[in-house]
Amino acid sequence: MQIPRLHPDTIEEVKLRADIVDVVSEYVVLRKRGKDFVGLCPFHDEKSPSFTVSQTKQMYYCFGCQAGGNAIKFVMELGKRSFADVVLDLARRYQVPVQTLEPEQRQELQRQLSLREQLYEVLATSAQFYQHALRQSQGQKALEYLQSNRQLKEETIQQFGLGYAPAGWETLYRYLVEDKHYPAQILEKAGLIKPRREGGGYYDAFRNRLMIPIRDFQGRVIAFGGRTLTDVDAQRAASPEGVEPKYLNSPETELFSKGKTLFALDQAKGGISQLDQAVVVEGYFDAIALHAAGINNTVASLGTALSLEQVRLILRYTESKQLVLNFDADKAGTNAAERAIGEIAELAYKGEVQLKILNLPDGKDADEYLHSHTPEDYAELLKNAPLWLDWQIQQIIQDRDLKQATDFQQVTQQLVKLLKNIANSDTRNYYVSYCAEILSLGDTRLIPLRIENLLTQIAPATAAYTKPVSARKAWGNNKSSLLTSHSPLPTERSLLEHAEALLLRIYLHCPEQRQAIIAELEERDLQFSLSHHRFLWQQILEISSANVETRNFASQPDLISRLQDHFLEFSNEMGLISHLFHVDEKNQKEILRTPQVVQAAIACMDLVMLEKRYRHFLELWQQTDPETEPERYQSYYQAFYAEKIKLQQIDRQRLFSITELL
Ligand code: UTP
Ligand code: MN
Repeated sequence: MQIPRLHPDTIEEVKLRADIVDVVSEYVVLRKRGKDFVGLCPFHDEKSPSFTVSQTKQMYYCFGCQAGGNAIKFVMELGKRSFADVVLDLARRYQVPVQTLEPEQRQELQRQLSLREQLYEVLATSAQFYQHALRQSQGQKALEYLQSNRQLKEETIQQFGLGYAPAGWETLYRYLVEDKHYPAQILEKAGLIKPRREGGGYYDAFRNRLMIPIRDFQGRVIAFGGRTLTDVDAQRAASPEGVEPKYLNSPETELFSKGKTLFALDQAKGGISQLDQAVVVEGYFDAIALHAAGINNTVASLGTALSLEQVRLILRYTESKQLVLNFDADKAGTNAAERAIGEIAELAYKGEVQLKILNLPDGKDADEYLHSHTPEDYAELLKNAPLWLDWQIQQIIQDRDLKQATDFQQVTQQLVKLLKNIANSDTRNYYVSYCAEILSLGDTRLIPLRIENLLTQIAPATAAYTKPVSARKAWGNNKSSLLTSHSPLPTERSLLEHAEALLLRIYLHCPEQRQAIIAELEERDLQFSLSHHRFLWQQILEISSANVETRNFASQPDLISRLQDHFLEFSNEMGLISHLFHVDEKNQKEILRTPQVVQAAIACMDLVMLEKRYRHFLELWQQTDPETEPERYQSYYQAFYAEKIKLQQIDRQRLFSITELL
């Protein structure tokens, strides 16, 4: 297939989404060293790592062989592939919609490219114009507002390029079109002027406003926010009608898209990667005040819910993906906070971003707070900001009396709803225990019971989105049925069937593994759970009894044929196990990886035994009356809890190897 010519937007989007550390990590083991990552160079032979990857620069460089470039170049060089081929591939991997470029679109593209250049230029010139006007007599009121109301230093005003849009209808228009000879269409496309409704001509979009340039992450001005100088909050309180908007923002343009931009990211990116954390506030002046206070890892969201694109922009600079949301608490409440969190809730539940929530006391925003507190006070609050999940739990139990049945029930329901959202099973288990502790009201004896209750209520949802790969997870979490039934669950059974069959097949066909298999089973005191497997195993042991003493299992080349002779008498069982005597292409592959497969299969069986013992002791414990038999009650409790701990440990260690089996 001929590779189509790609649209530059597609290429740009790929560059934005395909994070270099992510891309390189697929081929090279990277370790964090200082701000960068290092590893063994894939382009030349080396023993000590001289290959570095910088996340902030989105570049790689090898000090040994001087190879270097961006993510696309890396994949091109490594695979000796063409540019378009690699971009297409990355686009697929990072879900970037692909636009192609037909020949007739090329001219249009050239025009657009030069349009963008012109827009950047006219916006930069406008920013200078507004800055200049702030220092003229007409801008005096605005400057005073910045200095006294906002308590900003000259340095900060300069840093953010704050300015003033004069009060006339055509001041910017005249300056740019008449003095500087920019075409009016360019100004209009930049969102700076608007066409008059009648009689032709244009008027300035921003008049008599404090001007805040909005820059992209490289520091280029792409839009403006304009704040009124009148106290509209007070006016609105007196009479809500006919009050002008507090902020006017540039419209969406070729360069500016509100949902894809973060205010002050150009100023904050260094601080974010240094502190490995980003703070997101709502307002321009909150971000400006925080930067002025030296808290320079701050960006503002431009008054909308955080979009995935915005979060991606930030996360690129923090290794541990830490994000603190500092939104107004009064307006926030739980619902508004959730709205602000918007599309990133899912990322947070998956554990792909570490989201924390900071609510300042008395419902203040950061700007207001810093007028009466020190930067250190703010930093302290920041340090103690709760994780979003903890914050949600706090909100749920706030002002509730768990000793009251209705409150208890409602809180439990809300906690269950929350827990269901957590995709990562380790995290979910952690919060299940945590919530169980809360619901136990200090009586630790109740914790296991509360855990079981919560798990029972969570289970249906987790089972619903179970895929074969996570079969083990669903089974592990589905403790509810463990309470009521002794027979294994379907997933449990098929997994076990598979694991046991594999182990037997390996034993039969790989004589060199026999010793290891026997040793593992003995060491862990494991038995085959499925009756036909147990039966086959007994036969094997019987035939091998002579070899047990010498432990020389490998020297039994005729094991299979002897078993087959043996089984002539037991045709019923034979039906279930005869397939183990043959090796087809699929299980040939599995058998080739034997040492790992033996480990995984053993781990799987181990897990099932643990679950069985856990269930057994749990039931005994539930059936025991603590009043009449306190010691027995206590010992069953300890027994099932010990199994539970082992289960949790084995779960984590072996999850990977077990899913390998499927
Ligand atoms: P707020 O109106 O919530 O903040 O706007 P605030 O603290 O009261 O504003 P100040 O401190 O008096 O200036 C927060 C952000 O929401 C966007 C702006 O980005 C603003 O910084 N916003 C707000 C608008 O875009 N338009 C509006 O009319 C109001
Ligand atoms: Mn404010």
